[in-house]
Amino acid sequence: MVLEEIKEKKEYHGLNDNFVRRVMKPYELKYNIYEPKQRKRFVKEVRAKLRILYGAFLLPTNKKRYDILNKIKTWDDKENCEKVLKMHLSTRERFRHYDKIYSWLKTKTKIHTVFDIGCGFNIFSMPWLGNVHYYGLEINKDDVDFCNAFLNKFKLTGAIRYGDVFDFDKFMRVDVVFLFKVLEGFEALERGFTERLLKKLDCDYVLVSFATRSLGGGKIISEKRLKWFLELVDVVERKKFGDEVYFLCKKKGSTDSFGFKGFV
Ligand SMILES: C[S@@+](CC[C@H](N)C(=O)[O-])C[C@H]1O[C@@H](n2cnc3c(N)ncnc32)[C@H](O)[C@@H]1O
Repeated sequence: MVLEEIKEKKEYHGLNDNFVRRVMKPYELKYNIYEPKQRKRFVKEVRAKLRILYGAFLLPTNKKRYDILNKIKTWDDKENCEKVLKMHLSTRERFRHYDKIYSWLKTKTKIHTVFDIGCGFNIFSMPWLGNVHYYGLEINKDDVDFCNAFLNKFKLTGAIRYGDVFDFDKFMRVDVVFLFKVLEGFEALERGFTERLLKKLDCDYVLVSFATRSLGGGKIISEKRLKWFLELVDVVERKKFGDEVYFLCKKKGSTDSFGFKGFV
């Protein structure tokens, strides 16, 4: 099957099937996969797209992560958790700012439960966030297993679930939902998905972030591109930390200044 062929490469083998199928869809219209040359091009282009949506976040040192996990002494071991955060491009660009990000968030709301969508390695920011019930959703099985190994090692509550956000109609109630650097990827797959996702969330706040520089600290990318997003939400406060801009949000039009009534 062509799906298996795409996932043959090691960097993709842990990816959720439904997610890969969703990425494949537009290319199925473009190529006839029963014609060998076209099939080859199909596989190449789908893999390239997957690399943009997912693979680019993996760094070569990823294999060493379990060695570091073994060295983590307590759930709030900042020194070793920082080493893990540096292995994922997203958290590597953020790890110096966690203290400020979470201190700011804590001035706005209580945080007992968090749901982190497309979480990557963000659970390793717990030493700065605090010992909260941490739920996550991630399409990469290896990353999911690794994050759950951290939770299990220290008997922390919560869990990271292996799955594609597009496949869920309902989510558990939490205090805060994190959407860190994921929405533009979701929109690239399905325009208008963010609006539908926000309606399904059951929480007090959503903390959303976007990159302000292209991947790996490249050129500055303008915040003007986020107009579509700002039309969907009421922003309680905007902050910029490093190369990322954060919007603490409640739903647009909600009468409850801190509630998400319209999201339920
Ligand atoms: C740019 S990274 C951000 C990681 C993390 N949110 C952070 O900022 O540290 C995007 C993450 O979303 C995950 N992801 C992409 N599409 C997804 C989907 N459809 N469902 C769940 N996770 C997804 C990727 O595997 C990747 O770990």
